[in-house]
Amino acid sequence: MKNKKILIGITGGIAAYKICFLVRQFVKAGAEVKVIMTPSATKFVSPLTLSVLSRNDVIINTFPEIDNFDKVEKLEQSTWHIDLAMWADVFIVAPATANTLGKIISGIADNFLLCTIFASRCPVILVPSMDEDMYRNTIVQRNIKNLESAGYKIIYPIYGELASGIYGIGKMPEPEEIFSYVNSFINRRIDLKGKKILITAGPTREPIDKVRYITNYSSGKMGFELARAAYDRGADVTLITGPVTLKETGNVKRIDIETTEDMFKEVKKIYNNFDLIIMAAAVSDFKPKSVYKGKLKKEKLDHLKLELIKNIDILKFLGEKKKDYKLYGFALETENGIENAKKKLKEKNLDLIILNNPLEEGAGFESETNVVTLIDNNKVRRLSKMTKYEVGNIILDYYLEND
Ligand code: CTP
Repeated sequence: MKNKKILIGITGGIAAYKICFLVRQFVKAGAEVKVIMTPSATKFVSPLTLSVLSRNDVIINTFPEIDNFDKVEKLEQSTWHIDLAMWADVFIVAPATANTLGKIISGIADNFLLCTIFASRCPVILVPSMDEDMYRNTIVQRNIKNLESAGYKIIYPIYGELASGIYGIGKMPEPEEIFSYVNSFINRRIDLKGKKILITAGPTREPIDKVRYITNYSSGKMGFELARAAYDRGADVTLITGPVTLKETGNVKRIDIETTEDMFKEVKKIYNNFDLIIMAAAVSDFKPKSVYKGKLKKEKLDHLKLELIKNIDILKFLGEKKKDYKLYGFALETENGIENAKKKLKEKNLDLIILNNPLEEGAGFESETNVVTLIDNNKVRRLSKMTKYEVGNIILDYYLEND
């Protein structure tokens, strides 16, 4: 981040207060930061705070508020949006409200921030953040999709407690997460160009009857972040995912499945076309022996016994068939982690196993971060707590070092 020029645009959403922490983080990392706010953003957080933290003036208005036009030099401010747009290495708009997103895609430039966005030559990263119903609105969704197609980078909102107190999707990712995204983005290496990578993610669902199923707590985040990291580094990425609420990045080829059997079918069709396969999915080990055709009724039942049978171990299958690809698996262990992971590495014929314990602080299914240990036949390397995106990048670094 040293000497990097970061332009931050803040619009009028409640998450605006969190941008103070983001600014601080960039400054601490050695970056130069300038902040633009929309007039509505100033209702949520003070420009003075941002000015002190960024060590720069904060710009809000397109036109200088002067009534004496003898002071012509003051009018130079009206060209600042061009200067600022040229100055920045990267431009982050966070939080980006539905209003601002809609204006950008419609070409409206009625405030200083919007003028600067349109004048920018550097990458512009938008961080939409709003109430869940607003976020899910068809027009907002269409705008985000069109903005992405127009070349804007999007950091998608996450699931969590919203300002209304309701849990839902729309929450802005934490400043650390945005920082780490921008950091990797700026220092991105396109070192996986030409590599074909298959990643599986999320849980699987095993039906009991037409309305019920067995599943697990997997959110799919680790697999999706791996896919994003690989995509950002130029790889050709295919993502087979169980049911999750996440959106894949850019042109990642996504295949949606429900059951382990479905995932296996998709894997079987394509596994021979890849250089690297990473099984990050939390595959259900068992499934009900029989699936009721309709809805299972509780009448006449004092208790219910479900008979479960074993599912295929997809990773083991891939290990047995392995010829030209590298194969990485995950091990989810709550005790004797290293020992069990080493056993899986061997039994499933893997090149690398990534051990994680969901009970550990900073790890877990819904968490933005993870604490993992990389284990191969020669080494055990425990990583500190970091975002799942960074974990993904380290796994990909490992691949390049050992390919
Ligand atoms: N895996 C798989 N197919 C299964 C079960 C697991 O491909 N039916 C893969 C997972 O995607 C993961 C690895 O195997 O990469 C290890 O999964 P994990 O749940 O930790 O271990 P299991 O082998 O299922 O053993 P156990 O649950 O007994 O620990």
